Amino acid sequence: MKILEKAYALLQKGELISIPTETVYGLAADASKPDAVRRIFSTKGRPSGHPLIIHVASIEKAKEWCFWTSKAQLLAQDFWPGPLTLILKKKPHVPDEVTGGLQSVGIRVPNHPLTLKLLNLFGGALAAPSANRFGRVSPTTAAHVKEEFNNEIFVLDGGPCTIGVESSIVDLYAGPALLRPGAISKEEIERRIGPLGSSSTPTSGTLKAHYAPQTKLIICDNPEDQAQILRDQGKKVAVLQETSNKEYAKKLYAELRRLDKEEHDVLIVRRATADYLGIAINDRLTRAAYGTNLSSKQSSHTSSNKGNKS
Ligand code: TXA
Ligand code: MG
Repeated sequence: MKILEKAYALLQKGELISIPTETVYGLAADASKPDAVRRIFSTKGRPSGHPLIIHVASIEKAKEWCFWTSKAQLLAQDFWPGPLTLILKKKPHVPDEVTGGLQSVGIRVPNHPLTLKLLNLFGGALAAPSANRFGRVSPTTAAHVKEEFNNEIFVLDGGPCTIGVESSIVDLYAGPALLRPGAISKEEIERRIGPLGSSSTPTSGTLKAHYAPQTKLIICDNPEDQAQILRDQGKKVAVLQETSNKEYAKKLYAELRRLDKEEHDVLIVRRATADYLGIAINDRLTRAAYGTNLSSKQSSHTSSNKGNKS
């Protein structure tokens, strides 16, 4: 498979590539190469203290990078490959560039056939945050990544992501605690390892402003009513259309990106019904809306100031 060999060769040279996962596309580097990992931060504009998740092919491979525990085993055997990141005590050889100097490391086995093939060929670990500029909307197609980085990154095209929101993160180092909701619910995790508490571990996915489009975003329960009120005020408004939460999660980032280009004054989204996936959707929407309130073009769609705030 030529495309996998090309991806592999780039990683060996210390270059970045973008990998598909079931959640969002990642911007990947060989986790054992500090220089390559540093390029992730400069390319994304991500502050260097923010730790990265490493991606491996199997539980056996994960054990090479962290100190494995019985709780990790219970979760990994049921949810890997899948949208669950575990935070565990790192092995000494894990570069500080990956962990942001922390003694713990975030690790998961992604559930995407192409990336699993690459990981098996590669044999090591790929450090990979979502392949977007810091603070912005995560990419769920290869085209999103190309657009985000002006075609300068090689993208392993694995089609649209099937889940669409980032992995659930469980802290088994300072926790157990759920640091970021995702497609694996708190209840499903608690059923395996008992109650989850809260953790003070800082993560970028828990920043108040994140995942933000550039147009002002409003979340409400009755989008059409809200849209009418704003239209009556002369605003150009788009309402994000969605159906089930599964579809909502899958389409969310693509729709935010699409609508963001249409020069609206306001984007309106419906608050998701709070089932397991709805909790993750609402978490991302809240941070996105907070981000747009900090710096969006709120005056008129004729404004040309669409500066990147990351
Ligand atoms: O679904 C996902 O998790 C995607 C795909 C590409 O795997 N990745 C992703 O990465 O969302 P990123 O960098 O956008 O978010 C990673 C989150 C951040 O909130 C980071 O702070 C947290 O994981 N994290 C990573 N290592 C950590 C650690 N050792 N302790 C606490 N949080 C950690
Ligand atoms: Mg991200």
